[in-house]
Amino acid sequence: MTKAGIILAAGQGTRMKSQLPKVLHQVAGLPLLGHVIAALRGAGVDRIVVVTSPSGEDVRAYAKSLGADSVVQDRQLGTGHAARAAETLLAGFDGTLVIANGDMPLVTPHVIQECLKASGRTGLSMLAFQAADPAQYGRVLLTSDGFLNRIVEFKDASAPEQAVTLCNAGCYAADAGKFFRWAAALKNENAQKEFYLTDVPTIARTDGVKCAIALADEASVLGVNSRAELALAEAKFQGRKRASLLADGVTMTAPETVFFSHDTVVEADVEIEPFVMFGAGVTVKSGARIRAFSHLEGADVSSGAIIGPYARLRPGARIGENAHIGNFVEVKNAEIGKGAKANHLTYLGDAKVGAGANIGAGTITCNYDGFTKALTEIGEGAFIGSDTALVAPVKVGAGAITAAGSVITNDVAPDALAIARGVQTEKPGWAKAFRAQKQEISKGKK
Ligand code: UD1
Ligand code: CA
Repeated sequence: MTKAGIILAAGQGTRMKSQLPKVLHQVAGLPLLGHVIAALRGAGVDRIVVVTSPSGEDVRAYAKSLGADSVVQDRQLGTGHAARAAETLLAGFDGTLVIANGDMPLVTPHVIQECLKASGRTGLSMLAFQAADPAQYGRVLLTSDGFLNRIVEFKDASAPEQAVTLCNAGCYAADAGKFFRWAAALKNENAQKEFYLTDVPTIARTDGVKCAIALADEASVLGVNSRAELALAEAKFQGRKRASLLADGVTMTAPETVFFSHDTVVEADVEIEPFVMFGAGVTVKSGARIRAFSHLEGADVSSGAIIGPYARLRPGARIGENAHIGNFVEVKNAEIGKGAKANHLTYLGDAKVGAGANIGAGTITCNYDGFTKALTEIGEGAFIGSDTALVAPVKVGAGAITAAGSVITNDVAPDALAIARGVQTEKPGWAKAFRAQKQEISKGKK
């Protein structure tokens, strides 16, 4: 079966009170729209058309970056009107259409597949769910034989209809040709004077087509209309990700305090201590340990490595096997060799650190002159003394030592010692004499 998808993303998102279009707000670091596109793709829907508002350039650019087409709905006259806007791009498409709201970030390929499967029964289906709190969702009224009777929008519902807890998730599947024919017959005679997509099944019935119901779990179909619902979606996403990593063999002592990105990859037998935050693009290999209060983003952590507590890995940090990155150490665009250690108060930016090197407390790579970034290379087994400033571009050879407090501006040969600091002088008895003189003066004043 050939499948195409329409994602509705032209709504104002008024309840978000934001300059940013609603579907570009993020859950786990990925825009809501990205989640919906990924779920459709996961269900085998390759061709996707995103419906945007005229001012939705950013939404169109984002859709394009994910390989989806987009169309403009010139005026926001409702979800049914929005779906019709996709017809120009899908003219002649002869397969099954999935039409989904762009604001359901927890949707999974599985529920989309269930919806597609149900459409196979009659040629039209929708996703419904039992809501603990049905709030403003459209209410789903069934016929005695379990098909859809009709969907009543909350604002149009009578009190008994509002008491119904079976709700419309905002995802439908239908034969494409028929769908556009039904959508063309929509009217806007309702409380909001909008063309409701939810009236399509009623029109289909007059055409002799029943709408089959696919049931989804509530957590997968949460619609985001407000910041509170965005926070709820984030919490649910995190809950799901934590549960799946725990099931895959990741240890977390306080999973509720660990936050993941949509794309975080953590292998089995990784240990994550409390209060760790993962930004986009992190991979952690088996046997690594991420200690408390660490922040990781765009980083690869190899097996046996120990990160933190209180470490910050920024984009391009590549931490080798058994390496240690300790407290208040920041690593950016730097490769840290196998078994190398930077345990305290250090910044390693634009650097290559050889295997087994030891980076003393307070070491800083001076990688930026205000205009360009430069590379620091530290050889295998080198020992960088505490409080060394490495003024890049600079190389410290394998096995070399830099003396504590040095400002290293020239390359250091392998196995050499570099000392670049003021020479210490000593004045015997000076301190004692100084105190005596000061005490004499203060006695005189009394
Ligand atoms: C919609 C459904 C409701 C369902 C709920 C599920 C309708 C009429 N109602 O309500 O039954 O329970 O979703 O979350 O469909 N959009 C456009 N153009 C428009 C209007 C909306 O593209 O002119 C898009 C929005 O960007 C959004 C989606 O359609 O992604 C749904 O619109 P929204 O206003 O959020 O509908 P709900 O009130 O949530
Ligand atoms: Ca919505």
